[in-house]
Amino acid sequence: MLIGRLTAALNRLRLAMPVALRAASPTGEPAAKRIRLSSELDPAAAAVAAAPPKPTNDSVTSLASTSSSSSPKGKKKKPKQASKTGPWSVVPTLEQEAASAAACEEAMALPFEFERKYAHELVYSNKLVLAPMVRSGTLPARLLSLYYGAGLVWTPEIVDKAIIGAQRTVDPETGIITYHKGQGAIWTTHPIEKPFLIFQIGSADPALAAQAAKVVEQDVSGIDLNCGCPKPFSTHSGMGAALLSTPDLLLDILRALLRAVDIPVSCKIRLLPGQQDTRHLAARILRTGVRNLTVHCRTRDMRPGERAIWERLGDVVELGKRRGINVICNGDGEGTANWNTIKTQTGASSAMLARSAENNPSVFSPDGPVDNITQVVPKLLNIAEYAKHSWGNTKFLLMQYRPSPPPLSTLSKQQRKEVNEAIARSKSVEELAESLRIELGQGKAFIDELEAKLRARPEWGAWEASRATTAEPKPEEVKEAQVDESTPIVAAA
Ligand SMILES: Cc1cc2nc3c(=O)[nH]c(=O)nc-3n(C[C@H](O)[C@H](O)[C@H](O)COP(=O)(O)O)c2cc1C
Repeated sequence: MLIGRLTAALNRLRLAMPVALRAASPTGEPAAKRIRLSSELDPAAAAVAAAPPKPTNDSVTSLASTSSSSSPKGKKKKPKQASKTGPWSVVPTLEQEAASAAACEEAMALPFEFERKYAHELVYSNKLVLAPMVRSGTLPARLLSLYYGAGLVWTPEIVDKAIIGAQRTVDPETGIITYHKGQGAIWTTHPIEKPFLIFQIGSADPALAAQAAKVVEQDVSGIDLNCGCPKPFSTHSGMGAALLSTPDLLLDILRALLRAVDIPVSCKIRLLPGQQDTRHLAARILRTGVRNLTVHCRTRDMRPGERAIWERLGDVVELGKRRGINVICNGDGEGTANWNTIKTQTGASSAMLARSAENNPSVFSPDGPVDNITQVVPKLLNIAEYAKHSWGNTKFLLMQYRPSPPPLSTLSKQQRKEVNEAIARSKSVEELAESLRIELGQGKAFIDELEAKLRARPEWGAWEASRATTAEPKPEEVKEAQVDESTPIVAAA
Protein backbone atom coordinates (compact mmCIF):
# COMPACT_ATOMS: atom_id res chain seq x y z
CA MET A 1 0.00 0.00 0.00
CA LEU A 2 2.73 2.40 1.13
CA ILE A 3 4.87 1.34 -1.81
CA GLY A 4 1.97 1.89 -4.16
CA ARG A 5 1.49 5.41 -2.81
CA LEU A 6 5.20 6.11 -3.10
CA THR A 7 5.22 4.91 -6.72
CA ALA A 8 2.27 7.13 -7.58
CA ALA A 9 3.90 10.12 -5.87
CA LEU A 10 7.18 9.50 -7.71
CA ASN A 11 5.44 9.16 -11.05
CA ARG A 12 3.49 12.35 -10.42
CA LEU A 13 6.63 14.22 -9.53
CA ARG A 14 8.38 13.06 -12.66
CA LEU A 15 5.35 13.74 -14.87
CA ALA A 16 5.23 17.33 -13.74
CA MET A 17 8.90 17.78 -14.57
CA PRO A 18 9.64 18.73 -18.19
CA VAL A 19 12.14 16.43 -19.85
CA ALA A 20 14.78 19.14 -20.12
CA LEU A 21 14.63 19.64 -16.36
CA ARG A 22 14.75 15.93 -15.71
CA ALA A 23 17.87 15.64 -17.85
CA ALA A 24 19.50 18.36 -15.79
CA SER A 25 18.17 17.07 -12.48
CA PRO A 26 19.93 18.83 -9.59
CA THR A 27 20.61 15.44 -8.01
CA GLY A 28 22.52 14.47 -11.15
CA GLU A 29 20.74 11.14 -10.94
CA PRO A 30 21.33 9.17 -14.15
CA ALA A 31 18.29 8.19 -16.26
CA ALA A 32 19.00 4.48 -15.90
CA LYS A 33 18.81 4.70 -12.11
CA ARG A 34 15.50 6.55 -12.22
CA ILE A 35 14.01 3.89 -14.47
CA ARG A 36 15.30 1.16 -12.17
CA LEU A 37 13.73 2.91 -9.20
CA SER A 38 10.34 2.85 -10.86
CA SER A 39 10.79 -0.74 -12.01
CA GLU A 40 11.75 -1.99 -8.59
CA LEU A 41 8.67 -0.51 -7.05
CA ASP A 42 6.24 -1.54 -9.76
CA PRO A 43 6.64 -4.83 -11.67
CA ALA A 44 4.28 -3.60 -14.38
CA ALA A 45 6.51 -0.61 -14.95
CA ALA A 46 9.46 -2.96 -15.28
CA ALA A 47 7.69 -4.88 -18.02
CA VAL A 48 7.01 -1.68 -19.89
CA ALA A 49 10.50 -0.26 -19.40
CA ALA A 50 11.80 -3.38 -21.12
CA ALA A 51 9.27 -3.04 -23.93
CA PRO A 52 9.80 -1.06 -27.14
CA PRO A 53 9.04 2.65 -26.85
CA LYS A 54 5.80 2.74 -28.83
CA PRO A 55 2.91 1.32 -26.82
CA THR A 56 0.45 -0.87 -28.68
CA ASN A 57 -2.75 -2.67 -27.85
CA ASP A 58 -0.73 -5.86 -27.53
CA SER A 59 1.46 -4.43 -24.80
CA VAL A 60 -1.67 -3.51 -22.87
CA THR A 61 -2.98 -7.05 -23.23
CA SER A 62 0.27 -8.61 -22.17
CA LEU A 63 0.46 -6.38 -19.11
CA ALA A 64 -3.05 -7.32 -18.12
CA SER A 65 -2.19 -10.98 -18.34
CA THR A 66 1.07 -10.47 -16.39
CA SER A 67 -0.78 -8.78 -13.58
CA SER A 68 -3.43 -11.48 -13.34
CA SER A 69 -0.96 -14.38 -13.19
CA SER A 70 -1.26 -17.04 -10.50
CA SER A 71 0.29 -16.51 -7.07
CA PRO A 72 2.57 -19.19 -5.53
CA LYS A 73 -0.42 -20.57 -3.63
CA GLY A 74 -2.22 -21.13 -6.92
CA LYS A 75 -4.78 -18.41 -6.17
CA LYS A 76 -5.56 -15.99 -9.00
CA LYS A 77 -4.37 -12.50 -8.15
CA LYS A 78 -6.93 -9.76 -8.67
CA PRO A 79 -6.11 -8.11 -12.03
CA LYS A 80 -4.75 -4.60 -11.63
CA GLN A 81 -6.83 -1.80 -13.06
CA ALA A 82 -5.72 -1.29 -16.64
CA SER A 83 -5.60 2.48 -16.25
CA LYS A 84 -2.91 2.15 -13.58
CA THR A 85 -0.70 -0.37 -15.34
CA GLY A 86 -0.76 0.63 -18.99
CA PRO A 87 2.23 2.03 -20.87
CA TRP A 88 0.67 5.50 -20.64
CA SER A 89 1.56 5.63 -16.94
CA VAL A 90 5.29 5.07 -17.48
CA VAL A 91 7.65 7.93 -18.14
CA PRO A 92 9.89 7.00 -21.08
CA THR A 93 13.66 6.94 -20.84
CA LEU A 94 15.65 9.85 -22.17
CA GLU A 95 16.73 7.66 -25.13
CA GLN A 96 13.08 6.93 -25.97
CA GLU A 97 12.26 10.61 -25.70
CA ALA A 98 15.14 11.47 -28.04
CA ALA A 99 13.78 8.97 -30.59
CA SER A 100 10.34 10.54 -30.28
CA ALA A 101 11.80 14.01 -30.78
CA ALA A 102 13.45 12.87 -34.01
CA ALA A 103 10.26 11.16 -35.19
CA CYS A 104 8.33 14.35 -34.41
CA GLU A 105 10.59 16.39 -36.68
CA GLU A 106 10.17 13.77 -39.43
CA ALA A 107 6.38 14.06 -39.17
CA MET A 108 6.60 17.85 -39.21
CA ALA A 109 8.62 17.73 -42.44
CA LEU A 110 5.91 15.75 -44.27
CA PRO A 111 3.10 17.46 -46.20
CA PHE A 112 -0.52 17.45 -44.98
CA GLU A 113 -2.35 14.22 -45.72
CA PHE A 114 -5.66 15.99 -46.46
CA GLU A 115 -5.62 19.53 -47.82
CA ARG A 116 -9.32 20.24 -47.52
CA LYS A 117 -11.15 23.53 -48.00
CA TYR A 118 -14.51 23.99 -46.33
CA ALA A 119 -17.41 26.27 -47.19
CA HIS A 120 -17.67 27.12 -43.49
CA GLU A 121 -14.23 27.30 -41.90
CA LEU A 122 -14.65 27.28 -38.14
CA VAL A 123 -12.53 29.79 -36.26
CA TYR A 124 -11.04 27.97 -33.27
CA SER A 125 -8.60 30.70 -32.19
CA ASN A 126 -9.08 33.51 -29.63
CA LYS A 127 -12.04 31.94 -27.92
CA LEU A 128 -13.29 30.53 -24.66
CA VAL A 129 -15.14 27.37 -25.69
CA LEU A 130 -17.44 24.91 -23.95
CA ALA A 131 -15.89 21.46 -23.45
CA PRO A 132 -17.60 18.22 -24.40
CA MET A 133 -19.30 16.95 -21.25
CA VAL A 134 -21.51 13.90 -20.94
CA ARG A 135 -24.73 14.90 -19.12
CA SER A 136 -23.47 18.43 -18.47
CA GLY A 137 -23.11 19.55 -22.10
CA THR A 138 -26.74 19.12 -23.11
CA LEU A 139 -28.75 21.59 -25.20
CA PRO A 140 -29.72 24.04 -22.39
CA ALA A 141 -26.10 24.18 -21.15
CA ARG A 142 -24.81 24.85 -24.67
CA LEU A 143 -27.39 27.59 -25.34
CA LEU A 144 -26.59 29.28 -22.03
CA SER A 145 -22.86 29.08 -22.73
CA LEU A 146 -23.35 30.69 -26.15
CA TYR A 147 -25.59 33.34 -24.58
CA TYR A 148 -22.84 34.33 -22.13
CA GLY A 149 -20.13 34.38 -24.80
CA ALA A 150 -18.75 30.89 -25.51
CA GLY A 151 -17.06 31.05 -28.91
CA LEU A 152 -17.77 27.42 -29.80
CA VAL A 153 -19.65 24.62 -28.07
CA TRP A 154 -18.94 20.89 -28.12
CA THR A 155 -21.62 18.22 -27.74
CA PRO A 156 -21.00 15.51 -25.16
CA GLU A 157 -19.28 12.44 -26.60
CA ILE A 158 -21.72 10.24 -28.50
CA VAL A 159 -20.56 6.76 -29.47
CA ASP A 160 -20.60 5.96 -33.20
CA LYS A 161 -22.94 2.98 -32.94
CA ALA A 162 -25.41 4.99 -30.85
CA ILE A 163 -25.98 7.59 -33.56
CA ILE A 164 -25.81 5.29 -36.59
CA GLY A 165 -29.35 4.36 -37.57
CA ALA A 166 -30.93 7.14 -35.50
CA GLN A 167 -33.98 8.93 -36.88
CA ARG A 168 -34.02 12.70 -37.19
CA THR A 169 -37.16 14.57 -36.25
CA VAL A 170 -37.86 18.30 -36.17
CA ASP A 171 -40.23 19.85 -33.66
CA PRO A 172 -42.55 21.97 -35.84
CA GLU A 173 -43.07 24.50 -33.05
CA THR A 174 -39.50 25.16 -31.91
CA GLY A 175 -37.38 23.83 -34.78
CA ILE A 176 -35.49 21.69 -32.27
CA ILE A 177 -33.94 18.65 -33.94
CA THR A 178 -33.85 15.32 -32.15
CA TYR A 179 -31.96 12.20 -33.15
CA HIS A 180 -33.58 9.20 -31.58
CA LYS A 181 -34.02 5.49 -31.77
CA GLY A 182 -37.64 4.73 -30.97
CA GLN A 183 -38.65 6.79 -27.95
CA GLY A 184 -35.16 7.38 -26.62
CA ALA A 185 -33.53 10.63 -27.68
CA ILE A 186 -29.82 10.29 -28.32
CA TRP A 187 -29.04 13.87 -29.07
CA THR A 188 -30.92 17.17 -29.40
CA THR A 189 -29.90 20.43 -31.06
CA HIS A 190 -31.41 23.83 -31.85
CA PRO A 191 -30.59 25.19 -35.34
CA ILE A 192 -29.41 28.47 -33.80
CA GLU A 193 -26.29 26.74 -32.41
CA LYS A 194 -25.25 25.11 -35.68
CA PRO A 195 -22.64 27.73 -36.76
CA PHE A 196 -20.81 27.21 -33.46
CA LEU A 197 -21.51 23.54 -32.79
CA ILE A 198 -18.99 20.69 -32.84
CA PHE A 199 -20.16 17.11 -32.53
CA GLN A 200 -17.87 14.83 -30.55
CA ILE A 201 -17.67 11.20 -31.57
CA GLY A 202 -16.48 8.29 -29.47
CA SER A 203 -15.07 5.60 -31.73
CA ALA A 204 -12.49 2.89 -32.13
CA ASP A 205 -13.39 2.10 -35.73
CA PRO A 206 -12.68 4.31 -38.77
CA ALA A 207 -15.66 3.06 -40.82
CA LEU A 208 -18.14 3.46 -37.97
CA ALA A 209 -16.79 6.90 -37.08
CA ALA A 210 -17.23 8.06 -40.68
CA GLN A 211 -20.74 6.63 -40.83
CA ALA A 212 -21.70 8.33 -37.56
CA ALA A 213 -20.31 11.68 -38.70
CA LYS A 214 -22.34 11.51 -41.92
CA VAL A 215 -25.53 11.03 -39.90
CA VAL A 216 -25.21 14.38 -38.06
CA GLU A 217 -23.20 16.39 -40.59
CA GLN A 218 -26.14 18.51 -41.73
CA ASP A 219 -26.76 19.87 -38.20
CA VAL A 220 -23.26 20.70 -36.98
CA SER A 221 -20.24 22.72 -38.11
CA GLY A 222 -17.45 20.41 -37.00
CA ILE A 223 -16.66 16.86 -35.95
CA ASP A 224 -14.33 16.07 -33.05
CA LEU A 225 -12.79 12.74 -32.08
CA ASN A 226 -12.60 11.99 -28.36
CA CYS A 227 -9.15 10.66 -27.50
CA GLY A 228 -9.13 11.75 -23.89
CA CYS A 229 -11.86 10.03 -21.90
CA PRO A 230 -10.19 7.77 -19.31
CA LYS A 231 -13.41 6.14 -18.04
CA PRO A 232 -13.59 2.36 -18.42
CA PHE A 233 -16.89 2.58 -20.38
CA SER A 234 -14.93 4.37 -23.10
CA THR A 235 -11.51 2.75 -22.84
CA HIS A 236 -12.60 -0.87 -22.49
CA SER A 237 -13.68 -0.89 -26.12
CA GLY A 238 -10.60 0.98 -27.31
CA MET A 239 -12.23 4.43 -27.46
CA GLY A 240 -11.37 7.69 -25.70
CA ALA A 241 -7.99 7.78 -23.98
CA ALA A 242 -7.31 4.19 -25.09
CA LEU A 243 -6.61 5.67 -28.54
CA LEU A 244 -3.54 7.37 -27.06
CA SER A 245 -2.04 3.89 -26.83
CA THR A 246 -3.04 2.98 -30.39
CA PRO A 247 -1.93 6.06 -32.34
CA ASP A 248 -2.12 4.32 -35.73
CA LEU A 249 -5.80 3.58 -35.14
CA LEU A 250 -6.36 7.12 -33.85
CA LEU A 251 -4.91 8.52 -37.09
CA ASP A 252 -6.92 6.10 -39.23
CA ILE A 253 -10.13 7.32 -37.60
CA LEU A 254 -9.17 10.94 -38.25
CA ARG A 255 -8.36 10.10 -41.87
CA ALA A 256 -11.73 8.38 -42.29
CA LEU A 257 -13.49 11.44 -40.86
CA LEU A 258 -11.49 13.83 -43.06
CA ARG A 259 -12.47 11.77 -46.07
CA ALA A 260 -16.13 11.42 -45.10
CA VAL A 261 -17.40 14.88 -44.17
CA ASP A 262 -17.37 18.34 -45.71
CA ILE A 263 -16.92 20.14 -42.39
CA PRO A 264 -13.77 20.65 -40.31
CA VAL A 265 -12.47 17.77 -38.21
CA SER A 266 -10.69 18.15 -34.87
CA CYS A 267 -9.34 15.97 -32.10
CA LYS A 268 -9.10 16.12 -28.29
CA ILE A 269 -6.25 14.34 -26.54
CA ARG A 270 -4.55 14.23 -23.15
CA LEU A 271 -0.85 14.64 -22.42
CA LEU A 272 1.23 11.49 -22.63
CA PRO A 273 3.62 10.82 -19.74
CA GLY A 274 6.61 11.78 -21.92
CA GLN A 275 6.87 15.28 -23.34
CA GLN A 276 8.54 14.19 -26.60
CA ASP A 277 5.96 11.41 -27.03
CA THR A 278 3.25 14.04 -26.65
CA ARG A 279 4.92 16.22 -29.27
CA HIS A 280 5.32 13.29 -31.63
CA LEU A 281 1.67 12.29 -31.33
CA ALA A 282 0.61 15.93 -31.80
CA ALA A 283 2.80 16.25 -34.91
CA ARG A 284 1.23 13.16 -36.44
CA ILE A 285 -2.29 14.41 -35.69
CA LEU A 286 -1.57 17.92 -36.99
CA ARG A 287 -0.24 16.43 -40.21
CA THR A 288 -3.51 14.72 -41.06
CA GLY A 289 -5.26 17.97 -41.91
CA VAL A 290 -7.41 18.40 -38.80
CA ARG A 291 -8.28 22.03 -38.16
CA ASN A 292 -7.81 21.98 -34.38
CA LEU A 293 -6.16 19.96 -31.65
CA THR A 294 -7.40 20.34 -28.07
CA VAL A 295 -5.06 19.14 -25.35
CA HIS A 296 -6.40 18.35 -21.90
CA CYS A 297 -3.26 19.18 -19.92
CA ARG A 298 -3.44 16.13 -17.69
CA THR A 299 -2.19 12.63 -18.39
CA ARG A 300 -4.58 9.75 -18.52
CA ASP A 301 -3.76 8.70 -14.96
CA MET A 302 -4.05 12.14 -13.38
CA ARG A 303 -7.11 12.84 -11.29
CA PRO A 304 -9.38 15.79 -12.09
CA GLY A 305 -8.30 17.43 -8.81
CA GLU A 306 -4.63 17.48 -9.80
CA ARG A 307 -3.40 20.71 -11.32
CA ALA A 308 -3.41 20.78 -15.12
CA ILE A 309 0.18 20.93 -16.41
CA TRP A 310 -0.15 23.97 -18.68
CA GLU A 311 3.63 24.32 -18.86
CA ARG A 312 3.76 21.24 -21.06
CA LEU A 313 1.44 22.70 -23.72
CA GLY A 314 3.75 25.36 -25.14
CA ASP A 315 5.68 22.79 -27.19
CA VAL A 316 2.49 21.52 -28.83
CA VAL A 317 1.21 25.04 -29.51
CA GLU A 318 4.55 25.72 -31.20
CA LEU A 319 4.06 22.69 -33.49
CA GLY A 320 0.54 23.91 -34.27
CA LYS A 321 1.90 27.33 -35.22
CA ARG A 322 4.47 25.74 -37.53
CA ARG A 323 1.66 23.86 -39.25
CA GLY A 324 -0.84 26.76 -39.10
CA ILE A 325 -3.23 24.64 -37.02
CA ASN A 326 -4.93 25.87 -33.87
CA VAL A 327 -4.26 24.25 -30.50
CA ILE A 328 -6.71 24.75 -27.62
CA CYS A 329 -5.68 24.51 -23.97
CA ASN A 330 -7.99 22.51 -21.69
CA GLY A 331 -7.71 21.98 -17.94
CA ASP A 332 -8.45 24.29 -15.01
CA GLY A 333 -9.75 27.12 -17.20
CA GLU A 334 -11.89 29.54 -15.22
CA GLY A 335 -13.02 31.88 -17.99
CA THR A 336 -11.90 35.47 -18.09
CA ALA A 337 -10.43 35.04 -14.59
CA ASN A 338 -7.38 33.09 -15.84
CA TRP A 339 -7.60 33.21 -19.64
CA ASN A 340 -4.72 35.69 -19.87
CA THR A 341 -2.53 33.47 -17.66
CA ILE A 342 -3.30 30.49 -19.90
CA LYS A 343 -2.40 32.51 -23.00
CA THR A 344 0.85 33.69 -21.45
CA GLN A 345 1.89 30.31 -20.08
CA THR A 346 0.94 28.16 -23.08
CA GLY A 347 0.87 30.40 -26.12
CA ALA A 348 -2.61 29.01 -26.92
CA SER A 349 -5.12 31.73 -27.76
CA SER A 350 -8.18 29.62 -26.86
CA ALA A 351 -9.16 27.84 -23.66
CA MET A 352 -11.74 25.09 -23.30
CA LEU A 353 -13.79 25.17 -20.08
CA ALA A 354 -15.48 22.15 -18.57
CA ARG A 355 -16.12 22.16 -14.82
CA SER A 356 -16.08 25.94 -14.37
CA ALA A 357 -18.80 26.20 -17.05
CA GLU A 358 -20.67 23.30 -15.47
CA ASN A 359 -20.67 25.24 -12.18
CA ASN A 360 -21.76 28.50 -13.78
CA PRO A 361 -22.29 28.91 -17.56
CA SER A 362 -21.91 32.69 -17.27
CA VAL A 363 -18.17 32.11 -16.72
CA PHE A 364 -17.82 32.82 -20.47
CA SER A 365 -18.96 36.41 -20.07
CA PRO A 366 -16.30 38.99 -20.98
CA ASP A 367 -17.51 41.02 -17.98
CA GLY A 368 -17.04 38.10 -15.60
CA PRO A 369 -19.68 35.70 -14.29
CA VAL A 370 -23.07 36.67 -12.89
CA ASP A 371 -24.89 35.11 -9.92
CA ASN A 372 -26.10 31.77 -11.22
CA ILE A 373 -28.99 31.30 -8.79
CA THR A 374 -30.76 34.59 -9.41
CA GLN A 375 -29.74 35.17 -13.03
CA VAL A 376 -28.90 31.86 -14.74
CA VAL A 377 -31.47 29.55 -13.13
CA PRO A 378 -34.50 31.49 -14.48
CA LYS A 379 -33.05 31.26 -18.00
CA LEU A 380 -32.30 27.55 -17.62
CA LEU A 381 -35.85 26.77 -16.50
CA ASN A 382 -37.33 28.74 -19.39
CA ILE A 383 -35.11 27.00 -21.95
CA ALA A 384 -35.94 23.61 -20.44
CA GLU A 385 -39.66 24.37 -20.64
CA TYR A 386 -39.40 25.63 -24.22
CA ALA A 387 -37.19 22.76 -25.42
CA LYS A 388 -39.28 20.15 -23.56
CA HIS A 389 -36.01 19.13 -21.98
CA SER A 390 -36.24 16.25 -19.53
CA TRP A 391 -36.63 17.21 -15.86
CA GLY A 392 -34.04 14.58 -14.94
CA ASN A 393 -31.28 16.27 -16.89
CA THR A 394 -32.48 19.80 -16.03
CA LYS A 395 -32.26 18.90 -12.34
CA PHE A 396 -28.81 17.41 -12.92
CA LEU A 397 -27.62 20.67 -14.53
CA LEU A 398 -29.04 22.68 -11.62
CA MET A 399 -27.29 20.46 -9.11
CA GLN A 400 -23.91 21.16 -10.74
CA TYR A 401 -24.27 24.91 -10.15
CA ARG A 402 -22.03 26.14 -7.34
CA PRO A 403 -23.18 29.19 -5.37
CA SER A 404 -21.53 32.36 -6.60
CA PRO A 405 -19.43 34.04 -3.91
CA PRO A 406 -20.35 37.51 -2.60
CA PRO A 407 -20.58 40.21 -3.89
CA LEU A 408 -21.96 38.37 -6.98
CA SER A 409 -24.55 36.68 -4.83
CA THR A 410 -26.46 38.56 -2.18
CA LEU A 411 -28.36 35.47 -1.05
CA SER A 412 -27.96 34.46 2.58
CA LYS A 413 -26.88 30.96 3.56
CA GLN A 414 -30.48 30.22 4.56
CA GLN A 415 -31.84 31.41 1.20
CA ARG A 416 -29.34 29.22 -0.67
CA LYS A 417 -30.36 26.27 1.46
CA GLU A 418 -34.01 26.88 0.57
CA VAL A 419 -33.17 27.00 -3.15
CA ASN A 420 -31.28 23.70 -2.89
CA GLU A 421 -34.16 22.10 -1.02
CA ALA A 422 -36.64 23.32 -3.65
CA ILE A 423 -34.48 21.80 -6.42
CA ALA A 424 -34.20 18.52 -4.53
CA ARG A 425 -37.93 18.09 -3.86
CA SER A 426 -39.27 19.37 -7.22
CA LYS A 427 -40.53 16.89 -9.75
CA SER A 428 -40.83 19.22 -12.75
CA VAL A 429 -39.67 22.52 -14.19
CA GLU A 430 -43.09 23.99 -13.39
CA GLU A 431 -42.96 22.90 -9.75
CA LEU A 432 -39.51 24.40 -9.22
CA ALA A 433 -40.47 27.61 -11.03
CA GLU A 434 -43.45 27.96 -8.71
CA SER A 435 -41.33 27.38 -5.59
CA LEU A 436 -38.73 29.93 -6.69
CA ARG A 437 -41.39 32.32 -8.09
CA ILE A 438 -39.83 32.24 -11.55
CA GLU A 439 -41.97 33.28 -14.49
CA LEU A 440 -42.06 30.67 -17.26
CA GLY A 441 -43.05 31.15 -20.91
CA GLN A 442 -39.93 33.18 -21.76
CA GLY A 443 -38.12 30.46 -23.75
CA LYS A 444 -38.91 31.88 -27.19
CA ALA A 445 -37.85 35.37 -26.07
CA PHE A 446 -34.56 33.87 -24.83
CA ILE A 447 -33.93 32.18 -28.20
CA ASP A 448 -34.69 35.43 -30.03
CA GLU A 449 -32.29 37.35 -27.79
CA LEU A 450 -29.63 34.67 -28.28
CA GLU A 451 -30.11 34.80 -32.05
CA ALA A 452 -29.63 38.58 -32.02
CA LYS A 453 -26.43 38.17 -29.99
CA LEU A 454 -25.08 35.46 -32.32
CA ARG A 455 -25.96 37.44 -35.44
CA ALA A 456 -23.89 40.33 -34.09
CA ARG A 457 -20.75 38.16 -34.05
CA PRO A 458 -18.35 38.47 -36.99
CA GLU A 459 -18.51 34.69 -37.53
CA TRP A 460 -22.21 34.87 -38.31
CA GLY A 461 -21.57 36.80 -41.54
CA ALA A 462 -19.04 34.18 -42.67
CA TRP A 463 -21.51 31.45 -41.83
CA GLU A 464 -24.31 33.11 -43.83
CA ALA A 465 -21.95 33.58 -46.77
CA SER A 466 -20.95 29.92 -46.68
CA ARG A 467 -24.59 28.86 -46.75
CA ALA A 468 -25.09 30.82 -49.94
CA THR A 469 -22.38 28.75 -51.62
CA THR A 470 -23.49 25.40 -50.20
CA ALA A 471 -26.37 23.53 -51.73
CA GLU A 472 -29.17 23.13 -49.18
CA PRO A 473 -30.02 19.47 -48.55
CA LYS A 474 -32.66 18.13 -50.91
CA PRO A 475 -36.08 17.94 -49.25
CA GLU A 476 -36.14 14.16 -49.30
CA GLU A 477 -32.80 14.08 -47.45
CA VAL A 478 -34.21 16.00 -44.50
CA LYS A 479 -36.53 13.67 -42.70
CA GLU A 480 -39.11 15.71 -40.87
CA ALA A 481 -41.58 14.20 -38.53
CA GLN A 482 -44.20 15.53 -36.18
CA VAL A 483 -43.13 15.05 -32.60
CA ASP A 484 -45.66 12.88 -30.86
CA GLU A 485 -46.95 15.13 -28.05
CA SER A 486 -47.57 12.12 -25.85
CA THR A 487 -43.89 11.18 -25.87
CA PRO A 488 -41.84 14.08 -24.53
CA ILE A 489 -38.44 14.62 -26.04
CA VAL A 490 -36.01 13.22 -23.51
CA ALA A 491 -32.74 14.93 -24.20
CA ALA A 492 -29.94 12.58 -23.33
CA ALA A 493 -27.22 14.80 -24.66
C1 LIG B 1 -19.25 15.79 -16.29
C2 LIG B 1 -18.10 15.68 -17.27
C3 LIG B 1 -18.30 15.01 -18.46
C4 LIG B 1 -17.26 14.92 -19.40
N1 LIG B 1 -17.48 14.33 -20.61
C5 LIG B 1 -16.52 14.38 -21.57
C6 LIG B 1 -16.80 13.96 -22.90
O1 LIG B 1 -17.91 13.54 -23.24
N2 LIG B 1 -15.78 14.03 -23.82
C7 LIG B 1 -14.54 14.53 -23.50
O2 LIG B 1 -13.66 14.59 -24.37
N3 LIG B 1 -14.27 14.95 -22.25
C8 LIG B 1 -15.23 14.91 -21.29
N4 LIG B 1 -14.97 15.42 -20.05
C9 LIG B 1 -13.65 16.03 -19.79
C10 LIG B 1 -13.71 17.55 -20.05
O3 LIG B 1 -14.07 17.84 -21.38
C11 LIG B 1 -12.36 18.21 -19.74
O4 LIG B 1 -11.39 17.66 -20.58
C12 LIG B 1 -11.92 18.02 -18.29
O5 LIG B 1 -12.99 18.16 -17.39
C13 LIG B 1 -10.82 19.01 -17.92
O6 LIG B 1 -11.28 20.34 -18.04
P1 LIG B 1 -11.59 21.23 -16.74
O7 LIG B 1 -10.36 21.22 -15.89
O8 LIG B 1 -11.94 22.59 -17.31
O9 LIG B 1 -12.75 20.60 -16.03
C14 LIG B 1 -15.99 15.50 -19.10
C15 LIG B 1 -15.81 16.16 -17.89
C16 LIG B 1 -16.85 16.27 -16.98
C17 LIG B 1 -16.62 17.02 -15.69
